[in-house]
Amino acid sequence: MTDKPSIQVLAICGSLRKGSFNRMAMNAAIARAPDGMTIREGAIGDIPLYNEDVREAGEPAAVAVLKRQVLEADALLFATPEYNYGMPGVLKNAIDWVSRPPSSSPFDGKPVAMLGASAGVMATVRSQLQLRQTCLALNMLAVNRPEVLIGQAAGKFAPDGSLKDEATGKFIGLLMQALYDWTLRLRGA
Ligand SMILES: Cc1cc2nc3c(=O)[nH]c(=O)nc-3n(C[C@H](O)[C@H](O)[C@H](O)COP(=O)(O)O)c2cc1C
Repeated sequence: MTDKPSIQVLAICGSLRKGSFNRMAMNAAIARAPDGMTIREGAIGDIPLYNEDVREAGEPAAVAVLKRQVLEADALLFATPEYNYGMPGVLKNAIDWVSRPPSSSPFDGKPVAMLGASAGVMATVRSQLQLRQTCLALNMLAVNRPEVLIGQAAGKFAPDGSLKDEATGKFIGLLMQALYDWTLRLRGA
């Protein structure tokens, strides 16, 4: 039992592939969640390409589920790869779906933390900046520090998917604590 206030976090991974380093990083974040924080994963793999006509005809089931999960969550955690200097289309597409219509966007005012893993040395810095820009557009309130940038990811994870780089683990732990503190601060606790 913990007497700390409880916070429910929805984690969304921007990679759909089985061996995703970002999913590994997300799992490392889940493992380092502070007392009082519980995390569940939101799925984006079944979300179709955004089409306003489709939305007007009736929200696809996968979108409705994700929207409800975002609404119910106290905070969000994004794990984003970097594709051609930006966030992957599948992640942006999912965010676009959930954001509509703007009058009932569940993103409004939502505390957010992000991290990212990439093959390159730039370590998702560009995709995270792009994601931060999207947070601005949707009035999501992103934790600024620490920035968790996991470059040359293949060397940071063991074959079983566990994080083997302790310095990275420490930053991830600090990020999760910062998300917890930020969420309570915005709640006025
Ligand atoms: C279409 C595409 C574009 C990519 N562009 C970048 C890039 O701009 N910067 C980078 O560091 N890595 C880039 N990569 C390599 C990714 O960092 C690498 O595939 C990484 O493993 C993706 O994340 P995941 O392991 O979670 O799937 C790209 C990969 C793909 C498939």
